[in-house]
Amino acid sequence: MQRGGDRSGPNGKCLRDRRLVEIGEVAKEDREALALGQTCDRLAKDAAALVAGLGGHGPSDRRHRRGASISSRVDHDPPDPPFEGPARPVRPAAADRADERLLHRVLPEVAAVRDRARDAQVGRVSGAVHPLDLLEHLVSFETSHTPEDHGEESFVYYALETMAREYQTVLDLVGHTPLARLQRIVPAGAATVLAKLEYISPGGSVKDRIGIKLIEQAEREGKLKPGGTIVEPTSGNTGVGLAIAAAIKGYHCIFVMPDKMSQEKISLLRAYGAEVVICPYAVAAESPESYYSVSDRLAEEIPGAYKPDQYTNQGNPDAHYETTGPEIWEQTNGEIDALVIAVGTGGTITGTGRYLKEQKPELIVVGADPEGSIYTAGEQHMHPYLVEGVGEDFYPETFDKDIVDQWVTVTDKDSFLTARRMAREEGLLIGGSGGTAVHAAIEVAKQLGEGKLVVTLIPDSGRPYLSKFYDDNYMLELGFLERDEPSPSVAEVLNAKKSEEPDIPDLITISSHQKVGDAIDLMQRYSISQLPVVRDGEGLDSLADVIGSLQDRDLLDRVFKNPDALHENVAAAMQPPLAAIDADEKLDEVFSTLSGRQNAVVVAEGGKPIGVLTRTDLLEYLAHRR
Ligand SMILES: Cc1ncc(COP(=O)(O)O)c(C=O)c1O
Repeated sequence: MQRGGDRSGPNGKCLRDRRLVEIGEVAKEDREALALGQTCDRLAKDAAALVAGLGGHGPSDRRHRRGASISSRVDHDPPDPPFEGPARPVRPAAADRADERLLHRVLPEVAAVRDRARDAQVGRVSGAVHPLDLLEHLVSFETSHTPEDHGEESFVYYALETMAREYQTVLDLVGHTPLARLQRIVPAGAATVLAKLEYISPGGSVKDRIGIKLIEQAEREGKLKPGGTIVEPTSGNTGVGLAIAAAIKGYHCIFVMPDKMSQEKISLLRAYGAEVVICPYAVAAESPESYYSVSDRLAEEIPGAYKPDQYTNQGNPDAHYETTGPEIWEQTNGEIDALVIAVGTGGTITGTGRYLKEQKPELIVVGADPEGSIYTAGEQHMHPYLVEGVGEDFYPETFDKDIVDQWVTVTDKDSFLTARRMAREEGLLIGGSGGTAVHAAIEVAKQLGEGKLVVTLIPDSGRPYLSKFYDDNYMLELGFLERDEPSPSVAEVLNAKKSEEPDIPDLITISSHQKVGDAIDLMQRYSISQLPVVRDGEGLDSLADVIGSLQDRDLLDRVFKNPDALHENVAAAMQPPLAAIDADEKLDEVFSTLSGRQNAVVVAEGGKPIGVLTRTDLLEYLAHRR
């Protein structure tokens, strides 16, 4: 299928929205029309008129100024008359779909250049027939020819990109993602790091690129017929890429996901109308319960079902060979030294790396791998990890290991902390695998040093992970984040409790030979729910004197079933002693005890009990402290 608006140039470049305007020939109202996003035809006519007009100029004078990128021209325009010397080729502006504001900002500058350019000699463009072909010719001319090799066919023009008036479908918006330079997170002296922001794509991830590719390939091969069902094991993003294409083309989708995936990802796929089947993550890939096996079974059993299978389908790396690689090559003007990509199915690194290495064999391709994944741990040392979407427990057919020159292993903690830093320091809210990639890219940038260019790729956004590694509690529980303030000691909490309740004794106990009724009176008087039971009620010098405990919950049960229990000895009703903790310990130590079944601990100093700390005391302390 010809995707709406695509017209590939001789270099395989896609024109889509690019419009060429010769400033000297385009009237003010036309420029305004351009800024408002007039149709391609209108602009193509302008270009055709321009080229016809250019034919009248003498071709012999080889003085010329070739277009430069808008920003470089505006910033570095030499003084009048400037039209000598080596020219920089025009490259499309960094954002492939520059918007009106850009045009408004740039046009006045361009007009000034036009005025100074009035003496320029211009040449003739030959061989073009259709206006859009003319445009293609102009675009391919500027990147594929130097003034020297093109001789007389040089001309003056400027390339501007604008927002298209409309796209046929959302599928036309897939890819063409920008490169953002990382400013603060890369240390001084390291290479420049550019991040390709795949989350800008309409489905929010790099996998949009393969969704449309795999579906259209299956249609061509007759594997997917109208009304068919797409079944795919996916960590979410491929599902979205497929679901978007399926929504437009009318296919039903069933996605099979491992249970470690965030709830947001599951809800997202359901929002596109897909069915989601959840399978256990912690089973071997060949287990019948694994999400790979379950998806195989569903694809076999459902009539008209097709499993694109991103793990074996060569359309996966091909999509990146055809789009991601050429985009990076064009965006960096071939000046890339290292490509760093986090590896899942291997489709992105294989396709992108293969294309770029064909252009530049000395390019270093670096795979970023979560610690525990097969690529760097090997089969012997694999273990589960938390980063989603990258790493594997088997070698997918879509991964070509010969493309990768180096590996960097990245821990979950480093992936998550790097992603969080990207949001806070670079304003880029990225997913965990983006954190894996950026962490590795920074390592590579440090190795390569200043003057080199590292490109990395951000597979998805941080939005699906807000309740995961962007949540401080999640990070604290994993031990990936330190508390800002040092944890207080148990003694501090006990002292705070004493100052809040000065009339209540430090330690309330009951002796084992007293009656259950006395214990209940005591609990009632001081509004407490548990009592340490001591040997004889007199001196309490050591933890060894605490021989048991009473809980109001157990007493209620006992007295409810047998009212005579009120007259029993405490010894008959008591439970094992409460856990003990030293007053010097940090609160973290008590936290795990009190967040479990135990709701109180005995605090001791030098082995001597000095108080009781309950779950409520801890809660009150934390609430009061904030
Ligand atoms: C979030 C995320 N990052 C990275 C990747 C890895 O890309 P690839 O499978 O092309 O290696 C995936 C793949 O599913 C992903 O979902």
